[in-house]
Amino acid sequence: MIKLAPSILAADFNILGEQIKKIEGAGVEYLHVDVMDGNYVPSISFGTPVIKSIRNNTKLIFDVHLMVDEPIRLVNDYKEAGADIITVHAEACSDLVATIDKIKTLGLKVGVSLNPETPISRIENVLQDIDMVLIMSVDPGAGGQPFIPSTLEKIKDLKSMLDNKGISLDIEVDGGIRPDNVMDVLMAGANVIVTGTAVFRGDILENVNRYNKEFERYKEIVK
Ligand code: DX5
Ligand code: ZN
Repeated sequence: MIKLAPSILAADFNILGEQIKKIEGAGVEYLHVDVMDGNYVPSISFGTPVIKSIRNNTKLIFDVHLMVDEPIRLVNDYKEAGADIITVHAEACSDLVATIDKIKTLGLKVGVSLNPETPISRIENVLQDIDMVLIMSVDPGAGGQPFIPSTLEKIKDLKSMLDNKGISLDIEVDGGIRPDNVMDVLMAGANVIVTGTAVFRGDILENVNRYNKEFERYKEIVK
């Protein structure tokens, strides 16, 4: 199942609720929520108070991407705030297995993310325990950066590693994806597509529909 996951990092926070309603109205299921702590990544975005407020306003699945050091400290708070899926960075966890276990104990879906320079071998031992791998296609910390082309090989390598092990999980890709390069990302094996600026800049409905056209075209090609 292909899913679009619009990142509110690129939203106009002055009218955040209205923009989320537009995303929901466009038939999207996931909302990507980028939390940055000013430590694991240089910038600070927002945290639980914002998530709690928007949780009251929408039924979208909250795909919370924690760009924070030692997220195990915080996963309980993010569950309380309304997260459905929590993704942590492998590089940010001193005990990745314990972090994954804690998220699962809370009854949430768990994702593990890798920065562009982190090899997939880093998470080979946890693949059977998680719901999603998030491959960063830009350095985390800011929206609006260009897609790093070598990510495509990494997605393909992950996909064959999973196929060889007989594991099926979601492959999410985050950073620099636009309607004109999303086909390459799908072809490489990804099925959850994060998009910030390419959805929130301009007309949200038109932008979502541009992605949906590409998703339909992909389904036609692979069927
Ligand atoms: C980067 C964030 C991304 C980013 C995507 O640290 O994790 O989710 O907002 O934004 P675009 O689509 O603008 O690259
Ligand atoms: Zn993200």
